[in-house]
Formats: sequence, C-alpha cells, structure tokens
Amino acid sequence: MEIIVSDNQTAKNKEGIKANTLNVQGRQVGLGPWLDEYLDSWVQAIQDPQLSILSDGSFSMPTREKEAETFQLTRKEGGANFGIFALPEVKLIGVCGIYRVNQRNQSGVLGISIFDKDYWGKGYGTEAVKLTVDFGFRFLNLHTIQLTTGSFNTRALRAYEKAGFKEIGRWREAQQLAGKRYDDVYMDCLASEFEAPSPGWFTLQD
Ligand SMILES: CC(C)(COP(=O)(O)OP(=O)(O)OC[C@H]1O[C@@H](n2cnc3c(N)ncnc32)[C@H](O)[C@@H]1OP(=O)(O)O)[C@@H](O)C(=O)NCCC(=O)NCCS
Repeated sequence: MEIIVSDNQTAKNKEGIKANTLNVQGRQVGLGPWLDEYLDSWVQAIQDPQLSILSDGSFSMPTREKEAETFQLTRKEGGANFGIFALPEVKLIGVCGIYRVNQRNQSGVLGISIFDKDYWGKGYGTEAVKLTVDFGFRFLNLHTIQLTTGSFNTRALRAYEKAGFKEIGRWREAQQLAGKRYDDVYMDCLASEFEAPSPGWFTLQD
C-alpha cells in the first residue's frame, strides 16, 4: 500500500484517506468504517439516475439529509456501513453494509453500491460482498443474510451468485422502469453454506 506521510505526520494515501481506516484487506478491496466525511461523495454519485436506479430501484433526487438518516438508522438497528476501498491505492469506490439487523432471528440484509463506475465488472463488488457477508456472520453473529435486486441488474445478480448467494424467489413484475416491467429477485445466504474469503477477516488462530 503506497502511503504518503503528510506534514502533520498523519499517514494518508493519495486520496487523503487515512491508511488506518481499513478494517480488513482482501485481494482487490479493503473495507473501512463508513465515515461522515464520505457522505458527499456518495450523495454526489447517486445524482446519476443510472447509479441510483441500480442501487435501490428508484431515482428520487436523493438529499444529504435523507442519506445521512439512512446510514444512522443502519447503525441504530445494530448493523454496519463500510466504505469500499480499491487496493493497493486505498481509493474510496463504494459503500456496503448490513442493515435491518434482527437480533432475535439473527438475520440481516445486504446492501452495496460501487459508485465509481470505472470499477464495475472487475471483481471488486464480488469481493466486497464476500467480506461484508463474512463480517455479518463472524461479528454480528447472523444466521442468514438476504438481499433484493431488480431482474434488470444482471451484473449484480451474477456478482451475488459468485459471492455465495442463491435465488430464493421472485416478485414477478414488481418494478416498472421506463414503461417496462421487471421482477424483484430475492436471494439469501446461510452462514452454514458460506465460504469465507481469504485473505479476509482475522480469525482467532491468526
Ligand atoms: C452490483 C455491483 C456491486 C457488482 O460489483 P462488480 O464489481 O461490478 O461485479 P463483479 O465484477 O465482481 O462481478 C460481475 C459479474 O457480472 C458480469 N457482468 C458484468 N457486466 C455485466 C452486465 N452488464 N450484464 C451481465 N453480467 C455482467 C461480470 O462478467 C462478472 O461475472 P463473471 O466474473 O462471471 O464474468 C456493482 O456493479 C455496483 O455497485 N453497481 C452499481 C450499484 C448496484 O447495482 N448495486 C446493487 C444493488 S442490488
């Protein structure tokens, strides 16, 4: 990892991201805690209708306040948000997390968006999903993680499948976009079926 040491002796990379903000490093991506200072990059990125629709199925002119509320709610519910960083440069390229955590049922929902389009289709998303899911199973003690995406999002469907998710059903024609109808696709992953990525999170044997 190339680190630039600034005048105040804080280790930072070229993007100005502090190197010690990473919680885990995989092969291509690292995850670090989602910081308030990343919010502007996210809000700016999802003004792009394509990214917004792929990310959550709609384009409703997102605001900073609304997005900040969403991230806060995730934390309040016992979930976690991560910044996704491309390695080795430690460049912020996306956001992911586990939300709607239900402690009684040990269940949660996965969300991810790589908001730097230059990094789509190159394996970053699959690894980020694996690391996030592994976090959910290891540290939130979840039993099952679910997600929903539109049937038009074929790249996401493939990435989720590669990361270990299985399709569990469809709400047929549940979405309408530009006059065409698409299914909501439901997928899940059980802790017992998940293969942890390596390199990945530390284990007590490390
Ligand atoms: C969905 C997302 C996380 C996937 O991450 P990614 O890094 O782009 O995906 P990966 O490169 O890891 O895997 C994509 C797979 O789909 C394939 N793929 C790429 N573009 C595709 C396309 N347009 N249609 C179908 N498959 C496609 C790739 O070839 C790859 O499969 P392969 O390894 O078998 O060849 C990322 O693209 C993203 O954040 N997109 C915008 C927001 C979004 O859609 N979020 C998901 C909301 S549910």
